[in-house]
Amino acid sequence: MERPILAVFGVSKTYPSRHGALPVLQDVSLVVCRSELCAIKGASGSGKSTLMSLIGLLDRPDAGRIEITGLRVDRLGADEQARLRNRLIGFVFQSFNLLPGLSALENVALPLLYRGVSRPARRDIARSALARVGLQDRIDHRPNQMSGGQCQRVAIARALAGQPAVILADEPTGSLDTATSESIMNLFLDLNRNHGTTIILVTHDPTVAARCPRRIVVSDGRVVDDNRDELRDAGPC
Ligand SMILES: Nc1ncnc2c1ncn2[C@@H]1O[C@H](COP(=O)(O)OP(=O)(O)OP(=O)(O)O)[C@@H](O)[C@H]1O
Ligand SMILES: [Mg+2]
Repeated sequence: MERPILAVFGVSKTYPSRHGALPVLQDVSLVVCRSELCAIKGASGSGKSTLMSLIGLLDRPDAGRIEITGLRVDRLGADEQARLRNRLIGFVFQSFNLLPGLSALENVALPLLYRGVSRPARRDIARSALARVGLQDRIDHRPNQMSGGQCQRVAIARALAGQPAVILADEPTGSLDTATSESIMNLFLDLNRNHGTTIILVTHDPTVAARCPRRIVVSDGRVVDDNRDELRDAGPC
């Protein structure tokens, strides 16, 4: 059996608050296989973004264990966490998080700088990532010269450029109108089906969630439902 790309075992996270410790995630376990496209749904405050920040190596759980590509990642020091985050994770956010002073090409190329990729190679990789999201004729545009949907495509190209193990997208269509949201979902589905990209996507939008082959529901910090369209024949992966 192939090793899962992501394995979360018994993870808990508590934040301090004025009213005492606030449990945000409680005993969450989850296995995601290579080339899955999963939606995470749940009410506001249920812990979805907190779970993404633990998987994305932006924070650490209080208890439990997280493995990405078989590597145990939950107890790393900050430097090692940052290094692995850059190598294993591609982030896509609701607000795109592009640098306003940089062109599309420069935004996509930037994370590769921290991996020591040479400038010509960075530009080549960025150019082909932008072509993959349909923006080959917008490479010199700055974020304020593009539509919301185009900015989100640049952010997706930036996430793809590093060839991460998994793309984590927190409300990637949350700032987009219905038609643009649909075209971004078409892109995620194309990347997943035709390029085998593993994607975990948080969404409030039932239409977006319904298009994902697997839907995980979080409620009050627990996974309460987990549905795949097709049952896999040999174990979780
Ligand atoms: N850094 C933090 N310090 C303290 N409490 C936090 C912190 N981050 C999140 N929380 C609390 O944890 C709970 C879960 O937050 P989280 O952002 O994970 O929810 P969410 O499911 O992503 O919600 P939304 O759908 O509104 O984005 C909330 O009650 C929130 O107030
Ligand atoms: Mg959130």
